[in-house]
Amino acid sequence: MTSAPRFDPPTLETTRLRLRPWHPDDREWYVALRADPDVARYLGDGHPQPTAARRADFERACAEWTRIGLGPWAVEERSTGIRVGYCGLPLWREGTPEEAVEIGYGYAPDAWGRGVATEAAAAAMRWAIEVRGVPFLVALTWPENLASRHVLAKLGFAYEGHVDTGHGPRSFFRVSRAAFEASPGCRASRATSD
Ligand SMILES: CC(C)(COP(=O)(O)OP(=O)(O)OC[C@H]1O[C@@H](n2cnc3c(N)ncnc32)[C@H](O)[C@@H]1OP(=O)(O)O)[C@@H](O)C(=O)NCCC(=O)NCCS
Repeated sequence: MTSAPRFDPPTLETTRLRLRPWHPDDREWYVALRADPDVARYLGDGHPQPTAARRADFERACAEWTRIGLGPWAVEERSTGIRVGYCGLPLWREGTPEEAVEIGYGYAPDAWGRGVATEAAAAAMRWAIEVRGVPFLVALTWPENLASRHVLAKLGFAYEGHVDTGHGPRSFFRVSRAAFEASPGCRASRATSD
């Protein structure tokens, strides 16, 4: 992955959502999103990071695209242009025998419960598999994060055990291309976009 040609982030569209590159004026919105205790509950150590760390996290996320040709997108509603969260593809090594592409996401609470996370993740994963040729993806969640576990199940991920990330045990999941393509989340995304 690290030797891949550099990509500008593509814009991906789903039925309801647009996954787009970050703009500099998204930074304070992202910083506020990650300050919400409900959003931060199952991220990092479970508490919002200090503001400077959240700003640095945003800069790092934007730089991922230049560094490795993968990274997170801003997710907005197509009908309104309102930002609802982020979704994307960091590169993850900890606890795996090789580099692996991870799917990660976070949304504002008023977007929860409408299938947004699953719809956006399916689009990001299809792009990773079909355009970048990624053979499998991994995901990590707090064991207690039942909503995220459910998102992963809809996308075909299988639980493979726990890993220690330094902030406590996290559940580790993996999905092959075949399992993703057979999943309800992928089938729904194909039905509406192909
Ligand atoms: C986790 C998160 C991304 C889910 O987003 P979302 O848009 O609500 O997810 P979806 O609607 O696509 O799917 C959630 C599923 O979990 C289910 N669910 C929600 N809360 C649940 C709970 N407490 N127990 C079991 N299932 C739950 C929903 O019913 C839904 O399943 P369904 O489609 O079969 O009804 C969102 O809550 C979030 O951003 N949380 C904060 C950040 C975070 O935790 N990120 C993940 C880090 S691994």
